Amino acid sequence: MFRATEFAHHLLQLALQPGAWAVDATVGNGHDTLFLAQLVGPTGRVFGFDVQATALTVAAQRVAHCPQVALFHAGHEELQARLPEDATGRLAAVMFNLGYLPGAPKETITHAETTLVALQQAVPLLQIGGLLTVILYPGHPGGEIEASVGRNFLETLPASFAVSQYRRLNSRAPAPELLIVERQS
Ligand SMILES: C[S@@+](CC[C@H](N)C(=O)[O-])C[C@H]1O[C@@H](n2cnc3c(N)ncnc32)[C@H](O)[C@@H]1O
Repeated sequence: MFRATEFAHHLLQLALQPGAWAVDATVGNGHDTLFLAQLVGPTGRVFGFDVQATALTVAAQRVAHCPQVALFHAGHEELQARLPEDATGRLAAVMFNLGYLPGAPKETITHAETTLVALQQAVPLLQIGGLLTVILYPGHPGGEIEASVGRNFLETLPASFAVSQYRRLNSRAPAPELLIVERQS
């Protein structure tokens, strides 16, 4: 059994080639940002968003050797405004890892309203074959509402997007869940 984060990485490894463009919508300490940067390489681009300055400082150090990474101290709900105009139809991957950063104050958590805005902005930016992954934590306070808002939006996308769900069914506690959107046409 892959954990949701591992399975997201596994899929993104298949979707990302050198030179691709990607977004990390929840940078945190930058582990996922570095992962994306390594896959797209120096000819690609990675745009990262987080509202937490302390986390971004750690992330910036982690990707200091990656000039292909641009970090924004901004919410992912500003995604469209912050990305270059030619990002539309150019993104091979967008990653959301929602909730709060382990070890950091739990007040800085993602919220259903802004997550929905960010998802609405991110989906149309995917290129054909591009993947958007969302890791949801229904066990967190507010997490179930955020999970259902995210699911409700993604499951109504048109047929040009394939939307899938990956989660452990026989878990005692609400299990983290991975939603996967692939732009097919
Ligand atoms: C589960 S952590 C991300 C972990 C991260 N991907 C890593 O590799 O370390 C969730 C992150 O979302 C951030 N966050 C909360 N609200 C946000 C928003 N509106 N836009 C972007 N990031 C946000 C938090 O500050 C936190 O760092």
